Amino acid sequence: MDPSALPAPTNVLRWSPSPTQSPGPSRPPPFAGGHQRIGDLEMQSLSSDSPEGSSRRVFPFSFDHRHDDEHIRPELRLRTEILPTEAAGRTRLENQADSMSSGKSAGGVYLTWEDLWVTVPDRKEKGSSRPILEGLTGFAEPGSVLAIMGPSGSGKSTLLDGLAGRLSSGTSHKGRIMVNGRQQRLSFGVSAYVTQDDTLMTTLTVREAVNYSAQLQLPDSMSISEKRERAEATIREMGLQDAMDTRIGGWSSKGLSGGQKRRVSICIEILTHPKLLFLDEPTSGLDSAASYHVMSRIVRLAQRNARTVIASIHQPSSEVFDLFHHLCLLSSGRTVYFGPTSMAEQFFASNGLPCPSLRSPSEHYLRTINQDFDQDIEQGSHRLSAKEAIDILVKSYEVSHISEEVRLQVSKINDQSEIRISERRGGQASFITQSLVLTRRSFVNMYRNWGYYWLRFAIYIALCLCVGTIFYDIGLTYGSIQARGAMLMFVATFLTFMAIGGFPSFVEDMKIFGRERLNGHYGVGAFVISNTLSSMPYLLLISVIPGAIAYYLTGLQRSFEHFAYFALLLFICMMLVESLMMNIASIVPDFLMGIITGAGIQGVMMLNGGFFRLPNDLPKPFWRYPMYYIAFHKYTNQGFYKNEFLGLTFPGEQAGAGVSTMTGEQVLRSFWEMETGYSKWVDLAILLGMVVVYRLMFFGVVKTKEKMK
Ligand SMILES: Nc1ncnc2c1ncn2[C@@H]1O[C@H](COP(=O)(O)OP(=O)(O)OP(=O)(O)O)[C@@H](O)[C@H]1O
Ligand SMILES: [Mg+2]
Repeated sequence: MDPSALPAPTNVLRWSPSPTQSPGPSRPPPFAGGHQRIGDLEMQSLSSDSPEGSSRRVFPFSFDHRHDDEHIRPELRLRTEILPTEAAGRTRLENQADSMSSGKSAGGVYLTWEDLWVTVPDRKEKGSSRPILEGLTGFAEPGSVLAIMGPSGSGKSTLLDGLAGRLSSGTSHKGRIMVNGRQQRLSFGVSAYVTQDDTLMTTLTVREAVNYSAQLQLPDSMSISEKRERAEATIREMGLQDAMDTRIGGWSSKGLSGGQKRRVSICIEILTHPKLLFLDEPTSGLDSAASYHVMSRIVRLAQRNARTVIASIHQPSSEVFDLFHHLCLLSSGRTVYFGPTSMAEQFFASNGLPCPSLRSPSEHYLRTINQDFDQDIEQGSHRLSAKEAIDILVKSYEVSHISEEVRLQVSKINDQSEIRISERRGGQASFITQSLVLTRRSFVNMYRNWGYYWLRFAIYIALCLCVGTIFYDIGLTYGSIQARGAMLMFVATFLTFMAIGGFPSFVEDMKIFGRERLNGHYGVGAFVISNTLSSMPYLLLISVIPGAIAYYLTGLQRSFEHFAYFALLLFICMMLVESLMMNIASIVPDFLMGIITGAGIQGVMMLNGGFFRLPNDLPKPFWRYPMYYIAFHKYTNQGFYKNEFLGLTFPGEQAGAGVSTMTGEQVLRSFWEMETGYSKWVDLAILLGMVVVYRLMFFGVVKTKEKMK
């Protein structure tokens, strides 16, 4: 590995964000020497690199992390030492045990993975499986940034998911993933993961989204204004100050650009300076300058607070690439290279694939290992297909000193005393604060969501006007018994059924909850409580205003107590339907499937609620026992009917029972075959109990799913 064999630095004027950075073999490591001011843009010549300014680059692992940041804990760095007996290119990695254990006790996270395989069932051949990751080995350590690079579909996200313990249920994995030397689950709050897709509350502005997140995540020992300051400082750090008051926006309304959304997602996760940060394509959608600024801030975070950062990245510019300490190059799930970023160039060159002088190294690696398109790679005087080049690199890496050193390093990290990493409990906002903040956020989201909420409100008004005019002034004739029953039945079933309209919005909420929960922002309990509280005002509004229109136009019992019961029952039923839909959303997370399932379940419940088929006529097995008692429509109908019929009298001649009048109670018993042994308030209490049970069920389902993962 003779460095002199490498192409000589070319004297090209280029943009470089730091005076010490340039591509090519003499490129110094990030933050090496001097006082680097991030953000300073300078034009400089590559040839101006002084030997002092560049790192000692003896192959392999002699990468000298000489950081000028005095906040870095020196004991956290793994020291490397060059063996005098070894030829240039051979070093011994001297890892000091005490430095590592003190790194652990300081709260740093060492992550190692050995022979990691991830497979998915092969659809082409039944019973067989297809590997996505093939025996990867590597490590990540506090204070440094590991970049995972590779062509699209090479397994970057899968590796991040695997390391974060978030692989999807269809995949299976084997291999050892160790956190601080022991096989332990990354509990909620220890790591933060910025996923490839942005899951954000579209109705909030950037300021609100980050601020709510700060209120949720930062401890109660910080005042609200301190949390707000931290949120705004983080927004500024990510260069979003001009978009602070712009709504994030989604499919229905345009808001932030893709790159801005990316930065909001990063802001939210770095607010608390997590010990372990996974970033999946943090710079996608960003121009090279923005990418550089975002990544340099992340690197600074890693170094200042001894945080471990693993980021997958598509096409970094040379400046961004220079910021990474370690590089993991993947191609079709295989390791092409894992080691110090600075050594990759020599590794490629040693395999006859040197980086052309005018091409940036990262671009060269990605070009060489992309086999999606037919392309030939030049290896010395002859040409290779991309597949052949990859095979050469993979095989060469397997037997190289670098991979040997990596394995040695992994086992050294794992041999250190096992330190269990604690959850972020105690350092977070209290349960009450979280519930209140979430309630407020959910409420704001609700009333800003015109489509889901205000349109729904307008439809309720229109429907209730229809009901009120169709059943207008219903009177007390014999025929009004049937009409009353039909009107109340419609209210009990269809108006409550309409609560399904909030389902898509709830599915979105669930996605946000899923992300925040996995990152340990808050617990399931706070989510259930906030969701219950925040929807209450809206459901109450729907029950009272459209409810009053339908009630008074129809001419149901005039007393206020009767109307109050009517509105209250309607309100509880809507909450019940929402609770039912929450359970469905926790099982079927797709909104179309969820709506179909929810509508189907409610259709069945409606059918045997005692209206379409009178209770005594329901077939005893299944429909009467137990379905009639499980369907909430039974209690809703009974409550509405008791509220309306009791206290009224109707002409009885047409009933054919030889009586001139019928009391409401008689109507309930003989006409509607209802249970009149208990009061309407019991029906209301049963429904309220059902709301509680359904919400607890939701809590249980989410918790069980978490445990099963
Ligand atoms: N659950 C799964 N079932 C089947 N195939 C999967 C699954 N997850 C990932 N894959 C496949 O594994 C490969 C790697 O996917 P992954 O998302 O990790 O790629 P990536 O490197 O992150 O790509 P990109 O840069 O486009 O995000 C792809 O070919 C993908 O189709
Ligand atoms: Mg990906």
